[in-house]
Amino acid sequence: MSTPVFELVIRNALVATASDTFKADIGIIDGCIAQLGLGLAPGAREIDALGRVVTPGGVDAHCHLDQPMNEPIRMADGFESGTRSAACGGTTTVIPFAAQAKGQSLRAAVEDYHRRADGCAHVDYAFHLIVSDPTPHVLNAELPGLIREGYSSFKVYMTYDDLKLDDGQILDVLDIARQHGAMVMIHAENADCIEWLTKKLEAAGRVAPRFHANSRPMLVEREATHRAIALAELVDVPILIVHVSGREAVDQIRWARSHGLKVFAETCPQYLFLTAEDLGLDNSYMGARCVCSPPPRDKRNQEVIWNGLADGLFTLFSSDHAPFKYDAPEGKKPGGEEVAFRHIPNGIPGLETRMPLLYSEGVLGGRITLNRFVELTATNPAKAYGLHPRKGTIAVGSDADLVIWDERPVTIRNEQLHHDVDYTPYEGIKLQAWPGLTLARGEVVWDGQTFHPRKGRGQFLQCGQPSILPMSKKSSSAFT
Ligand code: URP
Ligand code: ZN
Ligand code: ZN
Repeated sequence: MSTPVFELVIRNALVATASDTFKADIGIIDGCIAQLGLGLAPGAREIDALGRVVTPGGVDAHCHLDQPMNEPIRMADGFESGTRSAACGGTTTVIPFAAQAKGQSLRAAVEDYHRRADGCAHVDYAFHLIVSDPTPHVLNAELPGLIREGYSSFKVYMTYDDLKLDDGQILDVLDIARQHGAMVMIHAENADCIEWLTKKLEAAGRVAPRFHANSRPMLVEREATHRAIALAELVDVPILIVHVSGREAVDQIRWARSHGLKVFAETCPQYLFLTAEDLGLDNSYMGARCVCSPPPRDKRNQEVIWNGLADGLFTLFSSDHAPFKYDAPEGKKPGGEEVAFRHIPNGIPGLETRMPLLYSEGVLGGRITLNRFVELTATNPAKAYGLHPRKGTIAVGSDADLVIWDERPVTIRNEQLHHDVDYTPYEGIKLQAWPGLTLARGEVVWDGQTFHPRKGRGQFLQCGQPSILPMSKKSSSAFT
């Protein structure tokens, strides 16, 4: 048998997958993992990882890049800066959203989004769809075709005037997902309650950023989560509740699971590292930087989220990177004004900090195991969107998307991040680790100090059917 000629060998790695941790050399050919084992033949290039953990590159399955917004708002990151930032934080696959505007064809939204991404990305990417106008044509002609072509997940909103669907429309979308084996992601907040509370707050002159949190208390998330679960049960289809913020939504999801329902859940760094106080203790506008929905809650709810990460409640840990500059007329100060909270664009940046925050405070902080970290940040997102085993694991045949971790003190500073946002909500947080090297399909994109750009190296990935284990006692239509 001839000895394979490796382009690159990572030596002496402490390899972590979602199920195992073992010592191995990793031999790479043509951007893929060709061999795993001790004492591999020499490579054309070698990197010694002695004493360091190597995990799969992260799969950030919920981020927003260059998503069209209403004038004058514009996202700060497109595919170039967003994937640059991802790579420097150890993420090698991103899944942002091709959003349908009301009245627009879904296919036109996908084509437009491809134009935005083509030739720009530094790491691989797939698209989720956002369905905001589920007409009979969209449901019966466009969605089935798009699912077959690799757009097999779509988000629906229960809030936001431009995007929200009513319950009947959500049922229609869920039904299509069931028939065609797609994954529906649900933004669960009760729009009418939010509008009612917002009007009350406005009438009382309470319009500073911090009142955003008062306009979206946990019960509006709890009610919508409960309703989303009931709608999915009616159709008998799995759903994913995205960006879960605290105890009341968690309780609903635990209840659904205990009744055998196929309800998956995602959470994000903001619900571990921010609280409503980050939206401001006084009427200062600075809190606009942390306006996102659902809003961050309090320390007790952070603990609930940590527990859900540790005990398996959460399937995914995503950034929900939704990048808007703070001090900019196209960002958090629309038209250059300090506006009432209802007009502040919702969302915060987080692509680059997602993996280091969880590795440092979760794994090194003793809250989750290393294998669970891999499962949450890479393996499960790849499985949920049909990208596994090409993505999300370290195995022979998988893409050589790898992170070698440096365990060293790091203080998060926006000036050291690589997005195009003028702040990070995590400024000043002290971490104990950062990616020391990121490989994307065998190419070094980040070496711990320097980003290695190659715009356009990122490829579009077609998503397949979810391959995450069913949790339902009922027959599963979508998951095998
Ligand atoms: O505030 C948020 N989360 N903005 C991004 C859009 C979304 O709902 O995920
Ligand atoms: Zn959302
Ligand atoms: Zn989002």
